[in-house]
Amino acid sequence: MALNTFFDRVRDFADELYGSLKGSHVRVISHIDADGLSSAGIFISILKRFRVPFHLSSVKYVSDTLISELKKEPYDLYIFLDLGSGEVELLKSMEKRVFVVDHHRPSSEDIPMLNPFTQGIDGDRDVSSSGLCFLLYREFFEDYSMVPVALTGALGDLQENGGFSGLNEAILNWGVERGIIEVRKEIRLFGGPDYPLVSSLERTVDPFIRGVSDDSAGALSLIESLGIPIKIGEKWVTLSDLSDEQKRDLMNELVKRVESLDKAKSLLGNTYVNLMEPKGSPLRDLSSFSTLLNACGRMGRGYLGALLASGMRGEILSSALSVLQDYKKHLSSLLRDLKPRVIGKVAFIDEGVAEDTIISTLTSIMSKSIKNVDLVIGYAETEGDMLKVSARLTNRVSGFDLNEILRKASTTVGGRGGGHRHAAGAQIPRKMKGDFEESLLSYFE
Ligand code: C5P
Ligand code: C5P
Ligand code: C5P
Repeated sequence: MALNTFFDRVRDFADELYGSLKGSHVRVISHIDADGLSSAGIFISILKRFRVPFHLSSVKYVSDTLISELKKEPYDLYIFLDLGSGEVELLKSMEKRVFVVDHHRPSSEDIPMLNPFTQGIDGDRDVSSSGLCFLLYREFFEDYSMVPVALTGALGDLQENGGFSGLNEAILNWGVERGIIEVRKEIRLFGGPDYPLVSSLERTVDPFIRGVSDDSAGALSLIESLGIPIKIGEKWVTLSDLSDEQKRDLMNELVKRVESLDKAKSLLGNTYVNLMEPKGSPLRDLSSFSTLLNACGRMGRGYLGALLASGMRGEILSSALSVLQDYKKHLSSLLRDLKPRVIGKVAFIDEGVAEDTIISTLTSIMSKSIKNVDLVIGYAETEGDMLKVSARLTNRVSGFDLNEILRKASTTVGGRGGGHRHAAGAQIPRKMKGDFEESLLSYFE
């Protein structure tokens, strides 16, 4: 579909929204992931520019409990960002004025909603919620300064695969044309090409680089062993300072220290540089920006991420960086003490080990390192009498569709679930854990 038709839809939605904003006290609810927090950052910037008072919360998902709490609140207008499309009936039951800006597949269109799927655009790949919020921002202010935040959300949702497509590509091009963004083919490390190299190496954990990730002495000695100076004059050396030959030597060394060919490949590719951000700032590299937002969300500090995405720096940035440190420490201590329960070809991490915001990361990491297992399942206690389930296939298997398996195994026990082929999740009633496991294990005999 032609993008211009979608921009017409953005204009209509913006008009409708503007009509409702005037004189309102607004409640904003965003998802806690990097896309949700990028969306929140852009949206609260719109509200600030219009001088509309608001209250923001970042949540894991839309639940009955959330809706019944929101319903009791005295706000005039409720805006859902990066969630809500799948729960239209629940949102309608609030009997409030509600708007949804979201790129997930909608369960119905019976609510004011800006959603790519209703206009024939692929929301899985071609635009994220932060991209949609950016289009509203552009519509209101003819301002492109939020392009980096729009792309940060898209990166967080894995919409970049060797490049952006569709609306994401259009947004990127606007940024490049205006000198806001630069795309560089580079070794992909935390902080990007203009960040001090020792810190870049130490802070890169995905992929995990043996003897370098989380190891400042190791990172330092790797650079020294390649004959690369740590400083040039008073300035820390960065990737941008290296010659092609030095980069090649470094890359050769890194490739040897990651766990798989796929991981090695992921070390090289596009980096997206925000030219508006000073050199040496971790936010200059959009993937690192997304990592930082993800950590804020998962550590229950979503508001920090949203404020960062709205453009605040100084103490907000220092706090977010220390949250990232805490997040990494927390993950390593969980990993160190982890003893999964293994039944046949399936490993289980029981509830009580990790919070419901952390369990999926833990399950992901475990699925990449554990041996002799096809599937890793993580449980975490969550609202009410429910368990959150996170599921990841290991890379020794193929031919399973976790989306289908989790959907079936959870619905037969009165829960709900789904996701992708290799990564899926569910919520199930706690007392049905045994039956759920039995159903799941029947696929992996
Ligand atoms: O994207 P998926 O849930 O598989 O990724 C899990 C998360 O774990 C990612 O956000 C990734 O950045 C993070 N991770 C990490 N430390 C690792 C490996 C992955 O923080 N060692
Ligand atoms: O997409 P959901 O939050 O929406 O899933 C995130 C997890 O799904 C991440 O661990 C990501 O790596 C994984 N994923 C995947 N295959 C896809 C898309 C996402 O394994 N096609
Ligand atoms: O929470 P986690 O990262 O493990 O979820 C993996 C994938 O499963 C995500 O894409 C998430 O959106 C999806 N999921 C789902 N339905 C659920 C729970 C998770 O589609 N009830």
